[in-house]
Parts: sequence; structure tokens; C-alpha cells
Amino acid sequence: MDKKKTAFYNFLFLAVAAGILIFLFMAPPETTVKVPRDKAHIEFYHMPKKEAERHCSECHGKEVGNPLPKEHPPKYRCLFCHKFSKGS
Ligand code: HEC
Ligand code: HEC
Repeated sequence: MDKKKTAFYNFLFLAVAAGILIFLFMAPPETTVKVPRDKAHIEFYHMPKKEAERHCSECHGKEVGNPLPKEHPPKYRCLFCHKFSKGS
């Protein structure tokens, strides 16, 4: 490989690395409340996420139980934002 090409690939590598870093940096911090590991939620830990999400609104709907805050962001994929809590 000639020098020019090497320089180009070095540049490309740096650009990609910088891009990834910036992307990671821009991603919002994971501060969203986790799904509690309690009786109400434990069954969802053993379910495919898409299936589990269909049940969330049974208790987190407008009228029932523990409704979402008024300023809650769009909510089609609960588990995309609300991760499961760690531990077993
Ligand atoms: C059986 C009823 C029920 C179902 C179904 C349910 N939840 Fe809950 N959820 C509750 C109750 C009650 C609370 C408040 C008390 C607690 O922490 O468990 C709560 C609290 C939460 C909280 C807030 C915890 C906190 O620290 O404030 C999150 C996030 C949450 N649920 C997410 C979900 C998601 C996501 C699903 C669907 C996978 C779901 N819930 C399904 C009853 C339910
Ligand atoms: C786009 C990301 C996102 C999605 C999708 C989402 N949420 Fe949230 N949720 C949040 C944020 C952000 C908050 C603000 C509270 C916080 O993070 O402390 C919140 C708050 C909540 C709270 C109140 C927690 C508390 O203690 O105040 C509950 C309960 C909750 N969400 C349940 C759900 C359910 C159920 C779904 C699916 C129907 C869902 N969320 C989908 C981001 C999301």
C-alpha cells in the first residue's frame, strides 16, 4: 500500500471511531426507572418483551392502578426504555 492510501485508511479509522464515540455520547443516559422486580412484574421477566408489553397497560393505563405521569414520553415499547432490574 502506498503512503497516501495508508493515510486515507488511518483517517477513515479515526473518523469512524470518533463517530461511534459521538454517537454513544449523544445517547441519553440510562436514568429511566427500571421495571421493579416485584410480584406485579416478575412474570414479565420470563416472557418475550413484545408479549410482556401488551400487559403493561392493564395496570398502567389512564384509569387504573399506577398511571403514567402526564408528561410521559411516547410509550409504544415500554421495555425499550424501562429495563428490567438486575439480580435473580
Ligand atoms: C399487575 C399490575 C401491573 C402490571 C401488569 C404492570 N405493572 Fe408496573 N407497576 C405496578 C404497580 C402496582 C407499581 C407501583 C408499585 C411497584 O413498584 O411495584 C408499578 C410500577 C412500575 C414502574 C415504576 C417503578 C418505580 O420505581 O416507580 C415501572 C417503570 C413499571 N411499573 C413498568 C411496568 C412495565 C414496563 C410493565 C409491562 C411489562 C408493567 N409495569 C406492568 C403494577 C403493574
Ligand atoms: C421513550 C421511552 C419510554 C417508553 C417507551 C416508556 N417510558 Fe415510562 N417513563 C419514561 C421516562 C423518561 C419516565 C420519567 C420518569 C423517570 O424516568 O424517572 C417514565 C416514567 C414512567 C412511570 C412512572 C415512574 C415513576 O416512578 O414516576 C411509569 C409507571 C412508566 N413510565 C411506565 C411505562 C409503561 C407501562 C410503558 C409502556 C406502556 C412505558 N413507561 C413506556 C420513558 C419511557
